[in-house]
Amino acid sequence: MSFTPKSIDSKAVHGGEERRYAPPAPSATPAPVVSGIIPSIGYVYEDSTHLDSALGGDPDLYVYGRYGNPTVAAFENAIVDLECHDMPAQAADHFALATASGMAAIHLAMAACGVQAGVTVAAAQDCYGATYSLVDSLWPQYGAKGLFVDATDLDAVERMLVEEAPVVLVVETISNPLLKVVDIPRLAQLCRAHNTRLLVDNTFATPMLFRPLAHGADVVIHSATKYIGGHGDVLGGVVVARNELRPAFWDFLKKTGANLGPHEAWLLHRGLKTMPLRVERQCGNAVAVAEQLSRHPALARVRYPGLPDHPQHQLAARLFGQRGYGAVVALELKDAGRPEVFRFLEALQMVQPATTVGDVYSLVLYPSHASHRALSPAQRAAVGISDGLVRLAVGAEDPRDITADISAALEI
Ligand SMILES: Cc1ncc(COP(=O)(O)O)c(C=O)c1O
Repeated sequence: MSFTPKSIDSKAVHGGEERRYAPPAPSATPAPVVSGIIPSIGYVYEDSTHLDSALGGDPDLYVYGRYGNPTVAAFENAIVDLECHDMPAQAADHFALATASGMAAIHLAMAACGVQAGVTVAAAQDCYGATYSLVDSLWPQYGAKGLFVDATDLDAVERMLVEEAPVVLVVETISNPLLKVVDIPRLAQLCRAHNTRLLVDNTFATPMLFRPLAHGADVVIHSATKYIGGHGDVLGGVVVARNELRPAFWDFLKKTGANLGPHEAWLLHRGLKTMPLRVERQCGNAVAVAEQLSRHPALARVRYPGLPDHPQHQLAARLFGQRGYGAVVALELKDAGRPEVFRFLEALQMVQPATTVGDVYSLVLYPSHASHRALSPAQRAAVGISDGLVRLAVGAEDPRDITADISAALEI
């Protein structure tokens, strides 16, 4: 009888490993608890029929590094286990493909779902800056029309789907940097009714808070650089979708070569094992920090889905259950522009002003000059990113230290 763990925490620890839940088969060589790194680019087959199947795309056979790699596949399998946690019987109907970065994953998902000259690609208006640029400028250079919608306004989304018939709609479960939460189940219904594929960037929520495939999303995307890796030392991305989409994704990845390397895959797979612990701790820290800072006189506003005054607090509670509200908090500095925000960034002692999120370290980023730099001031204003907005990615330190460091820097 095979054993399947009930808890997603156990799946995060064991998913994708060679030695998983069953006793090892009789063999002279013991099964390693931790699968190794297989860096080989090429593979030798005794039998050319097998080589032929491998070249034809059999996902269980390896032939060349850009076509697939066992260490990368172990990481991909572990991600499928997590994103399909609510529907274990359907996990085998899903695949994951890992990419060199989160942006490579987003680009891959858009291209493999049919974004090309002559079609329309839509995205949530307050998505990550590079995703915004893909839709706003890169795809239009190739002849596609890019447009944006307020994904929290379901009537506006439906009107856009009817009028524009985009091939894909890209949304973030929790948006970067304004931390809006979107109603994925309703968006999935709308997209399905209008033949648009729903691509969900689940980076900020992680599969620990929310798993969009079980709610009707077509593709889930992660910047694995963030909470999956968790330590700020590896860049990667991953997409997960139903097997019927695999040939298009695999073909595009094989041709464009934005693959994740085996060394990075191994590190990300290792990161995954502590993700439940880190995310739980960091979400708990974020609640404490957001509550404390919401009373700080130097802040005009603290945006955090876990605070009752957040516009989508109820929705977040419904979608994420008791698992948390994410570990990112957006701070609106009172009467602040670039000079005041720079002064704040330079005054921080423990919290690092660094351009990423999802690490065990607490980090702050100034969207106007970093993640959303490519947007014009008018575009930033239109989506609500002010010159006083700072994104705080809450780490795993003691929340009292995080709050003390931020409070002191705000007072300088
Ligand atoms: C929500 C979100 N999606 C995608 C990306 C892109 O990820 P990467 O930097 O791994 O390409 C980022 C990066 O910050 C992000 O925050």
